[in-house]
Amino acid sequence: MFGFKYFTPTKVVFGRETESQVASLIKEFGGKKVLIHYGGGSVIRSGLMKKVTDSLDAAGIPYVMLGGAVPNPRLSLVYEGIDLCKKEGVDFLLAVGGGSAIDSAKAIGYGVTNDGDVWDFYDYKRKATACLPLGVILTLAATGSEMSDSSVITKEEGLVKRGYSSDYCRPKFAIMNPELTMTLPDYQTACGCTDIMMHTMERYFTNGGNMEITDALAEGLIRTVMKNAEILVKDPKNYEARAEVMWAGSLSHNGLTGCGNDGGDWMTHKLEHELGGLYDVAHGAGLAAIWGSWARYVCGNCLPRFKQFAVNVMGVEPVGSDEEIALKGIEAMEDFYRRIHMPTNLRELGVNATDEDLAEMAHKCAVGVGGSMGSARLLYEKDMLEIFKASR
Ligand code: NZQ
Ligand code: ZN
Repeated sequence: MFGFKYFTPTKVVFGRETESQVASLIKEFGGKKVLIHYGGGSVIRSGLMKKVTDSLDAAGIPYVMLGGAVPNPRLSLVYEGIDLCKKEGVDFLLAVGGGSAIDSAKAIGYGVTNDGDVWDFYDYKRKATACLPLGVILTLAATGSEMSDSSVITKEEGLVKRGYSSDYCRPKFAIMNPELTMTLPDYQTACGCTDIMMHTMERYFTNGGNMEITDALAEGLIRTVMKNAEILVKDPKNYEARAEVMWAGSLSHNGLTGCGNDGGDWMTHKLEHELGGLYDVAHGAGLAAIWGSWARYVCGNCLPRFKQFAVNVMGVEPVGSDEEIALKGIEAMEDFYRRIHMPTNLRELGVNATDEDLAEMAHKCAVGVGGSMGSARLLYEKDMLEIFKASR
């Protein structure tokens, strides 16, 4: 077991109609002028935005609004948000939506409080020293951005998708009403469940420091999400299932399921970020499409963990060689993806990648991780290319 830091300062307000508390929460955290940041309009169509603005109006909290955060949120909108906040004297950000609106707001928060180009942080050139305080009303259980220290932004020039992490951007509060996720298309719900599981799986498949308590939390979390993801395929309005998935989403990416280990593997995410950057695919679907190929490529190097996963999470009978058991676990996970209508390769993802595309993604990925990365197995550019090829 390694030592660790566990810092989760976000005040979580969970349950039905909790969005009605937004104004008092902004006041509690000192917001005087707010930027309400959102995506392509689902929150307007659902009526949530009217409730939010009515609450702020009633509480006398001034605000400006900026929509347009697209999936794989863009740097140009971040710049627009920074200018708007500076011009309007905004001192508090409220993201209403999924991970894209939240991540875009986090980047805006960095840009307002730090001089110079905000992209420098995502380009690993320097580190942020502050971020505007941020609150969240979550409408999609997936990224865990409502409690996480990360944000992921895509720079249009060169289609470079990069993440930046620091404790400064951890939200002050997160309002989580599972009912708000009931308007999601089934595909987005399944993408969300996949992403949630993957945030724990990235931390699970490691070669160092794993703790029994962390494993128990991780395995229970993945099993719970799988069970409820299947319930939601048949019964999308099931409140209890929505609630289980929503809370799992936050716990999966606030650091809890990584305590004690070596920091996790994270290569499935890094490979997916290249897919998201180049083809603009939904993040969760991209993860499902790449995971099986990654798992087969690395499992020989991390066999005890793959075997444990197969038995404890996927319910594989522990008979046969470790390799056979591990492989059955990977196959069982792919069967699960199919049951929730997630892709298990690039073709099913709708991506028709040429050899040049794969080489470009592998190269960008290797540059993005500083040459090599991975705990289950350390991967270099040539390995990344092999995994992309196997996933075609
Ligand atoms: O844009 P709107 O109109 O709101 O529609 C969105 C979007 O089309 C829609 N949606 C969201 N809530 C809805 C809804 N539609 C109907 N009803 C609702 N209640 O769903 C679509 C996807 O939304 P988006 O925010 O893009 O999805 P997600 O939450 O999966 O975020 C994905 C982004 O987060 C990054 C991903 O790479 C991707 O860019 N990630 C962020 C992380 C973090 N900050 O910690 C970690 C993750 O690993 C991930 O990389
Ligand atoms: Zn993710």
